[in-house]
Amino acid sequence: KGAPYPGVDAFDMVKEDLTPFTESIRELVDTQHPVLSMAAKHFFERRHGKRFRPTIVCMMSRAVSEVPYEVLKNSLQYKRQGELGTITEMIHVASLIHDDVLDEAETRRGGLAVHKLYSNKVAVLAGDYLLARASVLLARLNNVEVVEIMATALDSLVQGEIMQLQSAPEDLLDMNHYLKKSYYKTASLICSACKSAALLAGHDFGSRTAIAAEEYGYHMGLAFQIIDDILDVTAAADVLGKPAMADMSLGLATAPLLYAAEEVPALRPLIKRRFKQPGDKEAAFAHVLSTDALARSRGLAQWHAQRAVDAALRLPPSTARQALVNICHTVLARKH
Ligand code: FPP
Ligand code: MG
Ligand code: MG
Repeated sequence: KGAPYPGVDAFDMVKEDLTPFTESIRELVDTQHPVLSMAAKHFFERRHGKRFRPTIVCMMSRAVSEVPYEVLKNSLQYKRQGELGTITEMIHVASLIHDDVLDEAETRRGGLAVHKLYSNKVAVLAGDYLLARASVLLARLNNVEVVEIMATALDSLVQGEIMQLQSAPEDLLDMNHYLKKSYYKTASLICSACKSAALLAGHDFGSRTAIAAEEYGYHMGLAFQIIDDILDVTAAADVLGKPAMADMSLGLATAPLLYAAEEVPALRPLIKRRFKQPGDKEAAFAHVLSTDALARSRGLAQWHAQRAVDAALRLPPSTARQALVNICHTVLARKH
């Protein structure tokens, strides 16, 4: 249900709407301290990525609107929803700057990570700074419910990182623990932003529309993370079976590993000790490939993507709704 709609591309549809985005960011991150604005601007100007989150917020805002786009696009409501997209991206980038410090990652989006370009201290402060600016912008939306939802998303991001950092060995084998962590670290932000977009449109917290928007973000975010985790393994498999897998190097067991461990009990102690012994990663990698773990992981991602499509289809018919459906197909087709 919910086949793709050819020719309807969210990323094309938002081009005009996201142009003021860069402007407002430039203004927002301007500070007395050049190094902070440099570090922050870096992401929005030179390495702005796909702007996946602002694009979805924008599409969701159109999809939940009760007035035609021609009317909506000049409204204060749509301006606020655009700001919500900006806030979401600022929070996301802040979390990535901090994440690269925690993960000791050297690169991000094809360039050096902020902590490599400057220092850990600057990276911590640049992330904090973006978060502070995002909070100011959030308060200016003048909607206490939205502030609470987005603040809770921040809380979830931190919860997800903590779960990843310190989990009991038994939990590392638990699929529910993995899904909960994935919700916290990835889905929560987009799920909260989608719900907030509906609230800014005037829909009630428990309304059918707000819940559909929230469920869309929830399932799409989970599908996105599961695909990410599959790609971490398959990218490694492409290089002549040489495991490079970043997740395992960080001691993390994702969906493919957990499915493989269901079939191969010998894999469980390796997961529990976070692949710390020499040869653990290579052995785990071989088990993933010798079982149907990757296919089952894809099935799980597809299941979530389908739930996201179902949620989108509960919104009134529109081109924006079609674009939201297409995003689910794009997420599943992602190759890198
Ligand atoms: C990327 O995951 C990391 C996140 C999505 C969240 C990071 C959250 C924090 C560091 C908590 C602090 C939050 C704020 C708002 C400052 P990953 O490491 O699995 O993926 P990667 O391959 O993109 O690094
Ligand atoms: Mg990381
Ligand atoms: Mg991380």
